[in-house]
Amino acid sequence: MASVLTPFSPPDWSNRLSHIPKYFVRLGNMNTPIHEWKLPNVPSGFKVYIKRDDMTGSTLSGNKVRKLEFLFADAIDKGCKNVITCGYIQSNFARSAAIAAAQLGLNCHLLLASPEVVRCFANLTFEGNVLLDKMSGASIYLISNMLKSSNYATDIKPRMEKLAAHIKKETGEDSYLLPGGGSNVVGLYGYIAAFQEMISQGILEEFDDIVVTCGTGGTVAGLSIANYLNQSKLRIHAISIGDNKQLFMGHINDLLKEVGLGDSVCADDIIDIVDGYKGRGYGLSTPEEQEFIQSVSENTGIILDPCYTGKAANGLVQELTSNPDRFQGNRILFIHTGGIFGLFDGKMDSYLRQRKHPEPVVLWNDLDDLSI
Ligand SMILES: Cc1ncc(COP(=O)(O)O)c(C=O)c1O
Repeated sequence: MASVLTPFSPPDWSNRLSHIPKYFVRLGNMNTPIHEWKLPNVPSGFKVYIKRDDMTGSTLSGNKVRKLEFLFADAIDKGCKNVITCGYIQSNFARSAAIAAAQLGLNCHLLLASPEVVRCFANLTFEGNVLLDKMSGASIYLISNMLKSSNYATDIKPRMEKLAAHIKKETGEDSYLLPGGGSNVVGLYGYIAAFQEMISQGILEEFDDIVVTCGTGGTVAGLSIANYLNQSKLRIHAISIGDNKQLFMGHINDLLKEVGLGDSVCADDIIDIVDGYKGRGYGLSTPEEQEFIQSVSENTGIILDPCYTGKAANGLVQELTSNPDRFQGNRILFIHTGGIFGLFDGKMDSYLRQRKHPEPVVLWNDLDDLSI
């Protein structure tokens, strides 16, 4: 097992950070491409590009893969045979953890909660991410009450610890606990390493602003710490799809302290958190958001997800239109963080069926009347 561990060579500019991981395991297909993106309704004068982190893999895709490369390396290095994590029922992180565990020969245990009521196993359908969780052999535990990031420490983590103790008692094996979204000081290095990849792709010269979705805050924390250490002129914007700005800033400030930058800088100095685009709330979509996702797919061939990137890209277009001074230049790089399986929970299907124009499908018989 130890052979999958690759020594991590941190970029020179990150040397002053503490908690630099010793190893990573290669799970993703890096480097992911950057290309121009003709996003509909972007005001003239702005040019939008996209970093395709949705292409880190097919099933093991998105931003989570980068965090998991460090988290799984740490788990394996510590001799753990099990990983335990948590999330909402359609969690992309949980799905990525389940698939990575199957690839690496570890057991995966997922504590999943739903924003809608799933009272018992019989009401749970294996759709979207949950289907892949199940196919990867993960053990799924449904949490009946709502999962909120604010009660992770007092409610969810103790349950994960209890499960770890149970596994230890039954099997003698150790478990590695992954916080929701993998956003801790180990997972942070996923986007510190990604920033180095993006430097090699010319971002420092070619862009003015980077825009990314903010869920648990780990992705933007890695990017903005890396950006700060490089003393770059890029501005990092994080479009929040869930918790409010204060919560993220608090979380990112904690991470800054943990890596030893707490006295030098605070989250407010290095990140612009954009609030106001969470719509109906986590995991819920408005018809306008669904129409936006549909329009982007049709016009650009880029598939956004309903939970994260759809809301964030919509927020980006709206901010470019109504608040252009928020951006420090006109060359914008949007990081596509994946999440495609969130589209397969049935909601987008219902939306497309309700749309009257164009017809959802045309029966071939109707075409017989066409004169050719
Ligand atoms: C597809 C997708 N994009 C963005 C994010 C947000 O990333 P982070 O949790 O690191 O803020 C998540 C997860 O939370 C995600 O699944």
